[in-house]
Amino acid sequence: MPEWLEWAERLRRRVSLPRYYHSLAVADTAFLLAERWGADPERARLAGILHDWARELPDEETAALARRYDLPERAGGFRTALLHGPVAAAILREELGFDDEAVLEAIELHTVGRPGMSRLARVVWLADAVEPTREYPGVEELRRTACESLEEAMAAALRSSIRFLRSQGALIEGDSLRLLAELDAGQGRKPAMLH
Ligand SMILES: [Fe+2]
Ligand SMILES: [Fe+2]
Repeated sequence: MPEWLEWAERLRRRVSLPRYYHSLAVADTAFLLAERWGADPERARLAGILHDWARELPDEETAALARRYDLPERAGGFRTALLHGPVAAAILREELGFDDEAVLEAIELHTVGRPGMSRLARVVWLADAVEPTREYPGVEELRRTACESLEEAMAAALRSSIRFLRSQGALIEGDSLRLLAELDAGQGRKPAMLH
């Protein structure tokens, strides 16, 4: 059995069915985007399977794991919604012996992102946003853009999620803002207005 399928089977026993299907969809999308944008498709698929490994943990458990593994607190606190990427990477590395650091980086950064993140991490981040079961305003346009420009699609997705978070009164992670600035600079645009 290929490695990704073994991990998919472990994931299936760990998370809800919708989460499991989402993860399979991210894996497929990440595989295709990796082929399109010159990242390692097998690694992208594996990162897609594993990215939400810690997504369904209660906040208290996420907080305990974040302290145990010395993970930095996010602007919004030690909440699963913000920290499940770094927590998943820590569990996989420290408890399950998973040692592909490129895949772990993609898992760690799939929610907040970070400037300078690898192409593989970018592909997985974008796959999470545009996989076929996602439904939100503008996702069709994003799917089209994802085939034309990795950076432009990421910038558009990031901008709309930042706008949404702001409308909810949520704090925005500095790393997400710096990533957006990097993406905009890379496209020869000046940093876009976010309001
Ligand atoms: Fe996630
Ligand atoms: Fe996800």
